[in-house]
Amino acid sequence: MKLKKLGSTGTLVSELCLGTMTFGWTTPEDESRVILDQFLSNGGNFIDTADVYSQGNSERIIGKWLSRQDRESVVIATKSRFRTGDHANSVGLSRKHLMHSVKESMSRLGTDYIDLFQLHAWDPLTPIEETLSTLNSLVENGSIRYIGMSNFRAWQFEKALQICRARGWHEPVSIQPQYSILVRSTEYEILPMATSERIAVLPWSPLAGGILSGKYREGISKAPKGTRAGDSRNAAMYLRYDNDRTARVLKTLSEISQETGKTMTQIALNWLLQNPAVTSPIIGTRNSAQLAENLGSTGWCLDANQCRAIEEASFMEVTYPYDPFSEEQQNRERELA
Ligand SMILES: NC(=O)c1ccc[n+]([C@@H]2O[C@H](COP(=O)([O-])OP(=O)(O)OC[C@H]3O[C@@H](n4cnc5c(N)ncnc54)[C@H](OP(=O)(O)O)[C@@H]3O)[C@@H](O)[C@H]2O)c1
Repeated sequence: MKLKKLGSTGTLVSELCLGTMTFGWTTPEDESRVILDQFLSNGGNFIDTADVYSQGNSERIIGKWLSRQDRESVVIATKSRFRTGDHANSVGLSRKHLMHSVKESMSRLGTDYIDLFQLHAWDPLTPIEETLSTLNSLVENGSIRYIGMSNFRAWQFEKALQICRARGWHEPVSIQPQYSILVRSTEYEILPMATSERIAVLPWSPLAGGILSGKYREGISKAPKGTRAGDSRNAAMYLRYDNDRTARVLKTLSEISQETGKTMTQIALNWLLQNPAVTSPIIGTRNSAQLAENLGSTGWCLDANQCRAIEEASFMEVTYPYDPFSEEQQNRERELA
């Protein structure tokens, strides 16, 4: 696996990040440990978790495993923002909740610092200045190395960045948006903003929760038990992909799979890996066999025709100010020709 710079920082991360949302949920602890070892032995060093995954069990499982590793060899990313308890303040981006969250995450992870501490989502109730000054002091006191945002809109991220710059506070270095062949609205504002500001982009759900593996051949509504979409608690989230566009994308991935001998999963991940705006897609796995397949997405490249076919199949009608007419209004390339 290649290494990439985490945005403009000097820290190097593997081109795939291991997502651990499944740990303690669909993946038992012993299998989780196998996955962590397998990821490291294949050159991975970047691991993403959150305080809310399996009510903290994802962090606990990583913590037990981490106690037998060289702490410096891995880059651990976690997040806070969603509800973790019954109290009024067990949620959000207030100074009170963030200070508590960082302490609790460090305790579950068995570490005295977090490499990348991410805000899981924007909090409309807390002034962003309160959140950012708290994060600044957490970097200053050594609890966290870097600050990241997840699920922020581009204007929210940019606003946070400019406040940090104006106040001389440590700036956010990464954004974690949903991004895959099926979710391309991330390309409208988030990717151009991240490229312009040299912000690391860490796409979550790069396989749209497994749909892009092509395994729901009978349709997402008929997903078998023992799969993400087959779990009735997730049905609503994945049924919205049960449409003609998804069918077109899956057909294209299947054709490219026949041409290249790569699996649909590997092709879907490779498409993200080739985007220069992307730092490390966060791959999710239920077991070590899936991880082995997904690791095969690195070390080769789709060609330009194959990328174009994927982009045509996943095309979405775009409206102002992202439509071709508005794009053309901003274009000055021809003056340089
Ligand atoms: N910031 C956020 O708000 C946010 C939200 C979601 C996730 N995340 C992060 O992103 C990570 C990845 O998200 P995700 O799990 O949704 O990613 P994903 O890669 O889109 O989906 C992973 C799921 O797809 C299925 N799958 C994976 N590889 C497969 C293969 N080779 N063949 C067949 N099925 C396969 C498995 O589900 P089944 O086998 O169970 O069907 C697996 O759990 C998470 O672990 C987490 O760290 C962040």
